[in-house]
Amino acid sequence: MTPSSKALVPFVSVENMMRLVHHLGIETVLRDLADHIEEDFRRWELFDKTPRVASHSPGGVIELMPTSDGALYGFKYVNGHPRNTRSGLQTVTAFGLLADVATGYPVLLTEMTLLTALRTAAMSALAAKHLAPRGAHVMAMIGNGAQAEFQSRAMQAIVGIDTVRLYDIDPVATEKCVRNLAGSGLCVVRCGSPEEAVEGAHIVTTCTADKQYATILSDNMVGSGVHINAIGGDCPGKTELAPAILKRSSIFVEYPEQTRIEGEIQQLEPDHPVTELWEVISGKARGRQTPSEITLFDSVGFAIEDFSALRFVKAAIQGTPFSEDLDLLADPDDPRDLYGMLQRSAAVSEA
Ligand SMILES: NC(=O)c1ccc[n+]([C@@H]2O[C@H](COP(=O)([O-])OP(=O)(O)OC[C@H]3O[C@@H](n4cnc5c(N)ncnc54)[C@H](O)[C@@H]3O)[C@@H](O)[C@H]2O)c1
Repeated sequence: MTPSSKALVPFVSVENMMRLVHHLGIETVLRDLADHIEEDFRRWELFDKTPRVASHSPGGVIELMPTSDGALYGFKYVNGHPRNTRSGLQTVTAFGLLADVATGYPVLLTEMTLLTALRTAAMSALAAKHLAPRGAHVMAMIGNGAQAEFQSRAMQAIVGIDTVRLYDIDPVATEKCVRNLAGSGLCVVRCGSPEEAVEGAHIVTTCTADKQYATILSDNMVGSGVHINAIGGDCPGKTELAPAILKRSSIFVEYPEQTRIEGEIQQLEPDHPVTELWEVISGKARGRQTPSEITLFDSVGFAIEDFSALRFVKAAIQGTPFSEDLDLLADPDDPRDLYGMLQRSAAVSEA
């Protein structure tokens, strides 16, 4: 039986996501994603918001991240398993769905492993655009795993950095990053220690994976005027920065209710002042106020960013061959005759 058009949902496979990115160009994708996130952060108040639903286990976490703007509903399934790379699996994988609120029918199903790396990078760069010191052009990139090149390319495309200083405890990861960034136009510097990586950096990005309270940056490594983009601390009991750095920084977060559970600020008192990034983006709060201030984007990743990314993909695939129709929704001729549809299909398969 051929499914009717009502049964079909556009599906973007990993293969098609890669084709889409090459078709548009990665800089364009990163900028467009940042624009979609910025647009949604400006209308932040109308979204349904909830901390993500996390299922923790000794090896990692599996999370569901839902939100809605009243017209569309989106969610992402994402995992974080820091030991996965030892057995050839990725730390983070994801997929997501967008649905029409009026009917509840899905309108897009897509891979989101690549899309998460792209949206996280676009989000970092968007935050840095508002918070980094003027003229920032050197970034330290600590943790050179799956996200690292995306972070570097987004900071290049959106903030205008020209140099990345790489450090990872595993030199193989740094070598991979050096190789992948060759030809990007970035000046890429290998560093032998995190202290060396932060030398002369205006932006410091930490993006390591470890399920513990780690100290990737200690207090003496962070000088005045720096913008810190802390990506890797995104679960209870999983942080990257010494608490003393937090106390010297102006802290910017996505959604405080989630960040206080998962972010660097889980190390602080529950009422420690933070500024919500959407308020800075929509002009309701100030970002960086002085050149000497340390600004910190305590990134954990929030559902609205994934919603923006889903919105971006839905628009970007229109009129392109970069999606396929998936027979996802049962569509009986009479909507109440689901059982009859099943019965008739047995007759067809026996014939
Ligand atoms: N905030 C967000 O929105 C967001 C989005 C995606 C991923 N993440 C988080 O970012 C982190 C990195 O993700 P990934 O996919 O790149 O992981 P990955 O496993 O591919 O890479 C992590 C890298 O960190 C390195 N590392 C571990 N400990 C280190 C240390 N002490 N010093 C220097 N390097 C160290 C590892 O060797 C590895 O190369 C994860 O914790 C993930 O949960 C956050």
